[in-house]
Amino acid sequence: MKQKFSSKDFIEMENNYGAHNYHPLPVVLSKGLGAKVWDVEGREYYDFLSAYSAVNQGHCHPKIVQAMKDQCETLTLTSRAFYNDCLGPYEKFITDYFGYDKVLPMKSGAEADETALKLARKWGYLKKGIEPNTAKIICCNDNFHGRTITIVSMSSDPDAYADYGPFTPGFIKIPYNDVEALKAELEKDSEHIAAFILEPIQGEAGVYVPDEGYLAKTYELCKQHNVLFIADEVQTGIARTGKMLACDHENVRPDILILGKALSGGAMPISAVLADDEIMLCIKPGEHGSTFGGNPVAAKVAVAALTVIKEEKLAEKAEYLGKIFRDEISNFKSDMIELVRGKGLLNAVIIKPKDGKEAWDVCLKMAENGVLAKPTHRHIIRFAPPLVITEEQLRDAIERIKKSIEFFD
Ligand SMILES: Cc1ncc(COP(=O)(O)O)c(C=O)c1O
Repeated sequence: MKQKFSSKDFIEMENNYGAHNYHPLPVVLSKGLGAKVWDVEGREYYDFLSAYSAVNQGHCHPKIVQAMKDQCETLTLTSRAFYNDCLGPYEKFITDYFGYDKVLPMKSGAEADETALKLARKWGYLKKGIEPNTAKIICCNDNFHGRTITIVSMSSDPDAYADYGPFTPGFIKIPYNDVEALKAELEKDSEHIAAFILEPIQGEAGVYVPDEGYLAKTYELCKQHNVLFIADEVQTGIARTGKMLACDHENVRPDILILGKALSGGAMPISAVLADDEIMLCIKPGEHGSTFGGNPVAAKVAVAALTVIKEEKLAEKAEYLGKIFRDEISNFKSDMIELVRGKGLLNAVIIKPKDGKEAWDVCLKMAENGVLAKPTHRHIIRFAPPLVITEEQLRDAIERIKKSIEFFD
């Protein structure tokens, strides 16, 4: 007889046998479709996290699932030791789609960030003529680029870096949203600086949207100093903020573009680094790679995921629905809401704790009322539903969010 486990059983199993590197909301999901997910007891929720913006196209999008199924039955992995009949067409598709000469396929966001850093250093030595082993890369405080040792070497968050040293040298940290800070560093030592890496909106930091003009001004400074502008659009890219890329809001074309998450619509880990030949061809055969990067299933899934974004006009939807979300929540009067901010459907609400109740308690209450979201940095709740959510669903979810916050007033 098949044993039936409850949510409590699954949570206990994870606690007993899994590393304790996450602190999930106590909800055990077993099914997803579009903007909704269901737990093992059959309760229905709106997903307002979208797996940190990976599921922009909605859970189990039929076109993406079909592409995956078809390719899984045909050929799953060749490694890059041989060519396959999916990678080339995908590479042509994605470079046309985003307007770059070349793509380097990887799997996770962190790996793509690592790839971009390596690429920038290579370019620094081969093209800019930086003295060997002295290249520097400027990054921003409060960034989130992933979890590897090199990436946490850029972090200013002790939760991310504490007790993981020694760290990778060669990074200069400056405040985010501070054009003058970048200018000062570039003027001090531009001959050693290969690149400036940033998130066009800092997602994990709490959906921190920089001032208008920040991207364009920092891009311009990079150009003046022959420094590469690297945009980590792993979370902000692929329609999330109301444009295909968050950099599009300021008509900035990054020298190196990093994508991940929604590149698969959540079906599997797929990431990519895009750049023009002058930069990308600095890496020669054997100098970088990945067994699974660019595998046939990933190639087919990514084409399907990007096709869905355009077919369903998800960037336009994010722009339109995001305005409704911010209007509704900012017009809602509550002692617990300090601020609402965001772009498109990447938004955050800053929670003012009340009578010992914090963002976590609000998230628990929202889950009870059928909306799943998660705090980031204790007092901030990120709201990022799949972009396929309908206006009616969004308005229903907003009422549930308001009701949950009202409970504490
Ligand atoms: C901007 C950004 N870069 C990189 C990453 C890391 O991606 P992954 O978890 O796939 O390694 C994330 C994950 O949240 C991210 O938000």
